[in-house]
Amino acid sequence: MYLPAFESFMVRVIQQKLPSVQSEHLKQQIRGFIGQEISHGQTHHKYNQVLERQGYKFKTYLKCADFVFAELLEKKLGANMSLATIAGFEHLTAMLTDIALNQNALKDSTPIMKDLWGWHAAEEVEHQHLAFELLQTVNNSYWLRILGIILGAMIIVGFTFSGMFVLAFQERGFISRLTLVDLYNLLLGKHQLVFNGLKLIFSYFSKHDIPPHNKSRYFAEKVFTSAS
Ligand SMILES: [Fe+2]
Ligand SMILES: [Fe+2]
Repeated sequence: MYLPAFESFMVRVIQQKLPSVQSEHLKQQIRGFIGQEISHGQTHHKYNQVLERQGYKFKTYLKCADFVFAELLEKKLGANMSLATIAGFEHLTAMLTDIALNQNALKDSTPIMKDLWGWHAAEEVEHQHLAFELLQTVNNSYWLRILGIILGAMIIVGFTFSGMFVLAFQERGFISRLTLVDLYNLLLGKHQLVFNGLKLIFSYFSKHDIPPHNKSRYFAEKVFTSAS
């Protein structure tokens, strides 16, 4: 639910930093990345509208998201810290890809939701390194990068889980033993989200370049091939 707010924040910050890129090739790639995030934001906004039509209320949650991204990050912490947060966030979207594509966790989902997340995850793989490359061009401070991954992780954990609770408390039948088992499997059991997330965060502490997610690239290409 917070993705439209986050993705439009991301587009504003990246557009602001784009003129500092010298390489025409990198500029071109970043423009493609902006285009992908705009269409993600618009599509997830449509998803939010469907939820609203179904009677779910989450306006306060969306206001909090806007406040954190536009007021706290963008205005108070500034464009460099915002870009570092975006680079950290984008590094962690590999978790989404891993769950949605590599582990095929969406195989029993409603087809339209499976398509939405499969497509989003595949495009995340495609542009995954670009926010990090832009950050390195603008400001390659190691500590800025580390603060960025910490803030990026806090956004993912904070907004994803508070969003889940906002919806779950409006759908009381959802709070059941089965949901708790699913949540356990997602976090600590079969899908190992906590372990994989920590592994990804620690890989970002390396002073070297961020390794590409080759395994995910293979699954992302499969999504693009089946769509064409
Ligand atoms: Fe996205
Ligand atoms: Fe992205």
